[in-house]
Amino acid sequence: MKFFIDTANLNEIREAQELGILDGVTTNPSLMAKEGISGKNNVYKHYKAICDIVDGDVSAEVIATDFKGMIEEGEELITIDPKIVVKIPMIKDGIKAIKYFSQKGIRTNCTLVFSAGQALLAAKAGATYVSPFIGRLDDISQDGMELIAQIVGIYRNYDYQTEVLAASVRHTMHLISCAEVGADVVTCPLNVITALLNHPLTDSGLAKFLADHKKVNG
Ligand code: E4P
Repeated sequence: MKFFIDTANLNEIREAQELGILDGVTTNPSLMAKEGISGKNNVYKHYKAICDIVDGDVSAEVIATDFKGMIEEGEELITIDPKIVVKIPMIKDGIKAIKYFSQKGIRTNCTLVFSAGQALLAAKAGATYVSPFIGRLDDISQDGMELIAQIVGIYRNYDYQTEVLAASVRHTMHLISCAEVGADVVTCPLNVITALLNHPLTDSGLAKFLADHKKVNG
């Protein structure tokens, strides 16, 4: 399973990259706004800065919601860096744009997916990634993980090439469950990735090893 980080914060992206386990980055307009990045030039410069840090794919979301606008924006976004994947919302014109880009060999990430039907459309249009949001479904008392498992199963039935990119991941149990059901990618904040490091028995075990070493070595 690939690990993407879901942030536009350069320090967090650097930290995950330095850990040596990072496969890519996802951003969205809210995450860019959180970093105070505004204006097209600054936004594009920021995407470039992200691409310079990571080795893998970087999802950059279009703001336009009409077919023509999404095509124009996507074609500009991919000139920033070869790592850019055009992130497109799951709406009617978005599906048309994904189909257009897939025919041109341009990679896309279909975002804001909340049902298996939407995921089927994204795969049929040729999306590179589909992003079902787990946490936001949990928030409205629907089982987000169930959707991930359902989409993985459907894609396997027909050998769709679209990768399931589990998004809106809030904690380590989401991430582990994604691995259990066979999601291709998980995108999450840095704190979810670093929380995987923690176990009290690791801490107490290491303290004991070091104390025993000190007893005989001073
Ligand atoms: C996915 O690409 C989105 O950026 C993201 O995972 C949304 O997560 P949230 O529901 O925590 O905002």
